[in-house]
Amino acid sequence: MNDMRGGQRGGDAVLSEAEVAARVDALISRMSLAEKVGQLCQIGGVSFAEGPKPEEIIRQGGAGSVLWLNDAKQFNALQRIAVEESPSRIPLLFALDVIHGYRTIFPVPLAMASSWDPSVAERAQAVAAKEARAAGLHWTFGPMLDIARDARWGRIVEGSGEDPYLGAAMAAAQVRGFQGPHLGAPDHVVACAKHFAGYGAADGGRDYDPVFLSEAQLRNVYFPPFRSALEAGVGTFMSAYMDLNNVPASGNAFLLRDTLRTEWGFQGFVVSDAFAVGSLVTQGFARDGSDAALRALKAGVDMDMASNTYAQHLAKLVREDKLSIADIDAAVRPILAVKVRMGLFEHPYADEAKLEKVATLAEHRREARIAAHRSMVLLKNEGGVLPLPKTVKNLAVIGPLADSKEATEGSWMVFGHKPAAVTILEGVRAKLPGVNVAYAPGPEIRREVPSMFEDFFPETKRPAQSPQDAEAAYNAAIAVARAADTVIMVLGENADMAGEAASRDSLDLPGRQQELLAEVVALGKRVVLVLLNGRPLGITWAAQHVPAILEAWEPGTEGGNAVADILFGDVNPGGKLPVTFPRKASHAPLYYARTLTHQPEDNPRYRSRYWEGLTTPLYPFGFGLSYTTFTIEKLKLSSSKIQVGSSLSVTAQVTNTGKVSGDEVVQLYIHQRSGSDSRPLRELKGFERVSLNPGETRTVAFTLGPDELGYWSASAGRWLQDPAAFDVWIGSDSRAALHGELDVVS
Ligand code: GLC
Repeated sequence: MNDMRGGQRGGDAVLSEAEVAARVDALISRMSLAEKVGQLCQIGGVSFAEGPKPEEIIRQGGAGSVLWLNDAKQFNALQRIAVEESPSRIPLLFALDVIHGYRTIFPVPLAMASSWDPSVAERAQAVAAKEARAAGLHWTFGPMLDIARDARWGRIVEGSGEDPYLGAAMAAAQVRGFQGPHLGAPDHVVACAKHFAGYGAADGGRDYDPVFLSEAQLRNVYFPPFRSALEAGVGTFMSAYMDLNNVPASGNAFLLRDTLRTEWGFQGFVVSDAFAVGSLVTQGFARDGSDAALRALKAGVDMDMASNTYAQHLAKLVREDKLSIADIDAAVRPILAVKVRMGLFEHPYADEAKLEKVATLAEHRREARIAAHRSMVLLKNEGGVLPLPKTVKNLAVIGPLADSKEATEGSWMVFGHKPAAVTILEGVRAKLPGVNVAYAPGPEIRREVPSMFEDFFPETKRPAQSPQDAEAAYNAAIAVARAADTVIMVLGENADMAGEAASRDSLDLPGRQQELLAEVVALGKRVVLVLLNGRPLGITWAAQHVPAILEAWEPGTEGGNAVADILFGDVNPGGKLPVTFPRKASHAPLYYARTLTHQPEDNPRYRSRYWEGLTTPLYPFGFGLSYTTFTIEKLKLSSSKIQVGSSLSVTAQVTNTGKVSGDEVVQLYIHQRSGSDSRPLRELKGFERVSLNPGETRTVAFTLGPDELGYWSASAGRWLQDPAAFDVWIGSDSRAALHGELDVVS
């Protein structure tokens, strides 16, 4: 359990809460209003717009934190100004988006959630923290905890998928990884639970669009990962951009004051998303900058990220008695407390030589490779096409992503990172020394609407491939496939096709990938499809025509080696989907935990929700295959009847009935048959990934109690647990069939 009250007393001893408070009080007592306001301002390390340079702002005491900078030398230069020249002499917090690795890149968070193994996420973020801290960073804007149920939404890649129970487990694990045993632990950073809250439910999956969620949806689906992060001791929260029920999240007192602080007792501080305080004017919520500053601070945003609105207006609002000094102090205290806990007063400067010693540790690459193994999901393996024999001859690797370092490392790289991934082509060639592995990229793929990030990083711009070159590349790929006996197709999305401002109106394979795949399959070769992508894809045709499909997501620096390990049988895949795969984009949002409705979809007479075809998932939540087989049997409840408020245990036996060792993720789902509200037809309330040798049996046990059986009721407007009859299922995905019944009585 991460203790946010921790912190360094200079050495490694942990400061008590009282000691931290005493030091904060002493600082506050000698700070002017201007210096206090400065602590509430986060500025860009590189100025994207005209105006005073960061050095000048810091020298005047106008900043408490710097983001969008990634250079230890520059950190130290700015820190020296803050510590030796600014009026308050208070050190800066340096922050950056370290989402899934700093120099050693791990699988994207959606991939790590696919491992259904929180220790994967914890270890990954611990390595990320160690490298980031060695680089001079103190604070990461992660973990991203937004539940996402619409595959069109680009930022689905950054979260842990559609389910609050899995999302909550991954949230706590990432906070532990980033922050270590206590806030301020060596080689760790402050984490940030973002984007509070509901960002993933944007209309149409269109990033930044408005969100409308009932309190029941917020409390039962979107809040649990954030609550879990808070209970794990997360040091900061980030308020989201978007309008939530017509009130922007960064001006939303229900979120930031009533829920986060009053109800949940959060003691850390809230930073807005980028420019979000100033954007309250753009959103038609605040009249002007002064109104934006007043309402954001009152709502509970402590630190203004990069919009300069607090800097311009807070002091005047205090002078006009619209804000009190107490309001300002309440925002400054948790920021100073984090700086005290992080030991910045004792150790403000970065060791400029440390990163190169840390980032090249072989153990980091090993951890990244293991994380990639455990994140990949085997979607199909007809006739045991996989694993491929290492004696394979005439092998070809084809596709625009097969040798792409960017696509292999995926979205959200830190500033200045040069992708260094082992690509799938490189991984396959390394696995098969002496085998001639042919390669052809086929036509390139690119967004029709360029990424907004091209404006910030013009060096990422690439001229479009000419139609002639694309045609030549297509024909060359077909020729390479024709000469091969086995073809590994590597298809999916470029790194800029998922992530921020990267929503799609289709889930198809971009460009001519589908056409290329179909023509290669038509050649009658042995074809394996490996997907590199940041969201569920509507690969309906491939699911019907390609015998083997491996979902590799965006697997990180060791991605190519991990894919080769799995394709050639050195590793048996055991991942499971953390998101439902719809058959097409028009079915989104599609998720498993829906209520039954008056016409349940499994009613054969009713057939489908759309008359053009099936609306059942292409692949369901929790689905994933293995090179071996398992049975899950003997579901047992410690009692078939319990009182409201009591708990019971549920056990089952899982056996590896195949010929090779492998992992199974045993999942427990419940359904409350009636109650104050209609309840989802299934809800995940337990999971465990177990490794079994052939013939081995393991008993897995879960507990069901008020936490699992209770919910926030829309009809009652409060948390409750109904007396009701429940179905309990245990299985290997959300269609689990092994069934038990439970009666909860008052
Ligand atoms: C971005 C993102 C947020 C990120 C922040 C700082 O716009 O919404 O996730 O942490 O700005 O880079």
